[in-house]
Amino acid sequence: MKSKLWITALIASAVIATGCSANNTNSESEEMDHSNMSEEEMKNMEGMDHSNMDMEGMDMENGHASHTNPLELNNSTGENELALPPLVEAKDGVVDITAQQGKTEIFEGVQTDTYGYNGSFLGPVIRVSEGETVTFRTKNDLLEPTTFHWHGVDIPGEGDGGPHQLLQPGASEDVKFTVSQGASTLWFHPHPEGSTAEQVYKGLAGLIYVEDENSKSLGLPDEYGVNDFPLVFQDRQFNEDKQFDYQAVRNEDGTIGDTMLVNGTLNPKLTVGKEKVRLRLLNGSNARNYTFKLNTGDSFQQIATDGGFLNEPTEMSEITLTPGERAEIIVDFSKYDASSDVALVNEADSILLPFKIDEQKTNTVAISETLNDYVVTEEEKNLSVTKKLELFGMGEMVYINDKQFDINRIDFTQKQGETEIWEIYNKPDMMGGMTHPFHIHGTQFKIVSIDGKEPPVELQGWKDTVAIEPDQKVKLAVKFNNKGIYMFHCHVLEHEENGMMGQVEVL
Ligand code: C2O
Ligand code: CU
Repeated sequence: MKSKLWITALIASAVIATGCSANNTNSESEEMDHSNMSEEEMKNMEGMDHSNMDMEGMDMENGHASHTNPLELNNSTGENELALPPLVEAKDGVVDITAQQGKTEIFEGVQTDTYGYNGSFLGPVIRVSEGETVTFRTKNDLLEPTTFHWHGVDIPGEGDGGPHQLLQPGASEDVKFTVSQGASTLWFHPHPEGSTAEQVYKGLAGLIYVEDENSKSLGLPDEYGVNDFPLVFQDRQFNEDKQFDYQAVRNEDGTIGDTMLVNGTLNPKLTVGKEKVRLRLLNGSNARNYTFKLNTGDSFQQIATDGGFLNEPTEMSEITLTPGERAEIIVDFSKYDASSDVALVNEADSILLPFKIDEQKTNTVAISETLNDYVVTEEEKNLSVTKKLELFGMGEMVYINDKQFDINRIDFTQKQGETEIWEIYNKPDMMGGMTHPFHIHGTQFKIVSIDGKEPPVELQGWKDTVAIEPDQKVKLAVKFNNKGIYMFHCHVLEHEENGMMGQVEVL
């Protein structure tokens, strides 16, 4: 009976939230504060029939129940050339990385307060090679504590930059490790408990490229900023003064925005040659999912997942990335000319990135048909499940195995170098639930199966983040090459912050 009342309240608040203006999302979390609900009541949420809850604004969009805040993305007008992050490599084995605050002219003539690494907004691309020993010399020049987390990097736990490795304002820390993984596009961002989402939102994010012998010999476009471009996609909402006011727009189910920034550029366009171009896509958003396609309907080739190359270039007409995920694609612009209208668009046809073709720039590259030798072995397929995780809930009530994050609790242990099968189940709730991008620190894993079936070919490669839809069960083969404490969590940053995170200690 009580739970029925609760549903009524929920529907009412959903209606309110749908009807209210975009910068008023806070009312929702207040309306939906049911922190004094009992365990019993929460458990009841799952068994309910909500087939008749098909009301306006509650359908699914981008994997979100759009009652949260159905903010549509604006189209890029293409008036600004895309910013290219500086490319940095180690000097005498050292890369300096400083988190700092600054002001950035995102809108013409307006200074927006932002955060960045080695600059006022976002970060560089750090390029390292497999086998290289490198020291990331990190420094916190912010006025608040932060951490430096290397997302997707195979690194000892003490250097991973999770919530345990808090760096106070003014403090520095050397993180020394040997790059022990193959070519991939990884990234870095802060991870302090309780302020990850806000710090990322304000601009703390950068890319890490790992190169290896293989990546140099495949004939892939690899000239940085010429035919090989990083694309960091982040949706933001600005206030009237064109500032980020994270607390005002924070949404407990994931903060989304109506304004697309690519590499921090508003209304970007990218000038490319009449040739094959490699685009390294990162969904660096707090919560929004993207389904990337070309407005022409033409296909492109996917060549890499989060942590390495696919075995072969794979023809795709669209590709979905949830927060934290990456993909590398090759777009063949040789069939277009200067008058072509070509753009990267999102599923609802909002224009993310228009291209301008420079016909003077051409190059014929012959891309190898074989890129990698990734395989899920028979042995891995036959291993039994030794870790079970259940993702459940919404808003502030998000859980893994009925628990919320506690920095003093180790949820699992695993032996270094040993492969275990993790089974992750996304348990639907009364609203249907939402897709959770599940991420594990300090390793790249293999997707063994999704609902008992072999994953599609574009997921047959190394991953560190996997989108798990409501009611889906995903099996992962997970091996840690280093020791230490690592986080696993939902990469919707507000879910992570609300407790959808746990810790595995590798011994
Ligand atoms: Cu992208 Cu816990 O990290
Ligand atoms: Cu989530």
